[in-house]
Amino acid sequence: MIIAPSLLAANFGKLAAETIRVDQAGARWLHLDIMDGHFVPNISFGPEIVRVLRPLTKMFLDVHLMCSRPEILLDPFAKAGANQMTVHVELGERVTPLLWKIKSLGRKVGLAINPPTGMSHVERYLGQIDLLLIMTVNPGFGGQPFITETLPKIEQAYTWRRERGLRYRIEVDGGINFQTAAECARTGADTFVSGTGLFQHRRFRRIAKVCLEFEAVKRGRIVAGRDHHPANGPFGFYGKGDGGRRRRLIAQ
Ligand code: DX5
Ligand code: ZN
Repeated sequence: MIIAPSLLAANFGKLAAETIRVDQAGARWLHLDIMDGHFVPNISFGPEIVRVLRPLTKMFLDVHLMCSRPEILLDPFAKAGANQMTVHVELGERVTPLLWKIKSLGRKVGLAINPPTGMSHVERYLGQIDLLLIMTVNPGFGGQPFITETLPKIEQAYTWRRERGLRYRIEVDGGINFQTAAECARTGADTFVSGTGLFQHRRFRRIAKVCLEFEAVKRGRIVAGRDHHPANGPFGFYGKGDGGRRRRLIAQ
């Protein structure tokens, strides 16, 4: 389980300091939203920002390309230090060559799907990707409310992965906070992008705590997510050690 702070919600006047701050707080990934003012009605930043931030951190740089022509951006972002590049399935027939290009650059391959787009559109690519990004808001801006109707898409992605023995991560992005993250975890998500949910509330130190809890989940020391008591509540984890006595591990 991974939490990826989205730099889009950081103070743009001090991106370097904000990057170091989330790194020191225990984040292992940094989510970088690249918007071209065409695929989405907003413009964010380009490869130069990634190039400047790369030497400051060992975090995994998760580059989300909300761009109509990512073909012209893959080489520059790879050179700048991106570890993963995600393109949108809404680009249609151009998706296959894009996925191959990212792979040929030696980077992890991500595929994103917008809320209105049906899951049948991503099915044919599942064997070629390292990450499936399920947008839980319409792309283009931070601070939007979570779209609950996207939850069944997470469940579908989880079911396909289990039934077909695939290994892609299931990432959710948009309106993710402690409450919506718990709902997504219960339906099968394992990677959580959060912008305003983290940066606005300055909850950096909690990243480390939550990541540690996730790690404990992975080691089976505590249980959480989809297969457990529905009253888990926001990011609620229950310990099953101590002779099965349940204890709440994360205070709100
Ligand atoms: C939106 C971006 C998201 C956004 C998330 O198009 O892809 O990564 O920054 O921001 P919050 O967590 O504020 O919804
Ligand atoms: Zn994003």
